[in-house]
This record gives sequence, C-alpha cells and structure tokens, in this order.
Amino acid sequence: MIMNIRKIGDPVLRTKAREVTLITDQTREILDNMAETMYAAPGVGLAAPQVGILQRLVVIDVGEEHGLFQLINPVITEYSEEKEIMEEGCLSVPGQEGGVLRSKAVTVKALDRDGKEIEIRAEGYLARAIQHEIDHLDGILFVDKVIAGE
Ligand code: NI
Repeated sequence: MIMNIRKIGDPVLRTKAREVTLITDQTREILDNMAETMYAAPGVGLAAPQVGILQRLVVIDVGEEHGLFQLINPVITEYSEEKEIMEEGCLSVPGQEGGVLRSKAVTVKALDRDGKEIEIRAEGYLARAIQHEIDHLDGILFVDKVIAGE
C-alpha cells in the first residue's frame, strides 16, 4: 500500500521516533508499505516519520549492488573522520536540494525484519542515505544541515 508522504511543515517530521520493542507482522507490513512508497515516489530512502509513523524504521535502496535494506532501530556506531559534501534532496522537501557535509563511511547496527541483529559497513552514497534517514528518526531534516546549494 502506498502511503502519504508528509511534507516539511508537518510536525510529525520534527518528532523523535520511538524504538521498536516488539517486531510483529504489523512491523513487517509497515516496512513493506514504506518500501513500496519509496519505489513509487521514486526515492532511495524513506523513514517511518515521513509516513506519519513514529517508530524507528527506515528503508533504503540506493540502487547499487546492495538491494533493499529494511532496518529496525538503526544506530550508527562508527563515523569515518573523513567527511565530504554531497547534494541531497528529500521526498518530504520537494523541489529543494543542497550540499550537506557528512562522514564518507559509517558502521550501522540494526535489526532486520526478522529481528536478527545486523551490522552494515557503508560508504559513499549508501553511507549518505543511512545518515540522512536516521536523522529523520530524530526529527532532523537535511535542510537543517545544508551548507551549500540553492
Ligand atoms: Ni529525507
């Protein structure tokens, strides 16, 4: 089911999402609806607050060899010291792009859709998407961090 994507100005985008304490079929249904919504948009990432759900859930598919990630309670455990500026956009901020400084590589720990602990070492575009989506879980939008752009 394609969900309605909330746009900047909606207070839900500024609210911190809660940790998921019990992974159920409903959790997996939300993750699947989020993936469907992301692909339909089209986009490369979506966080649950963007569809009005204040749970720590994100989906990411940057279209490289990685495929779809559906992450529950993702936490970045390591940031590379090396940073870079890249242009970002966001489905909740239509028509706007801007350069954001972020770590080039991150390590993220999360639970997968079956509740299994996973760890991802990401760099480049995937690392960027992970940092952007996890920001959404804390009510942060890329426009808060833009240091260059239109
Ligand atoms: Ni976004």
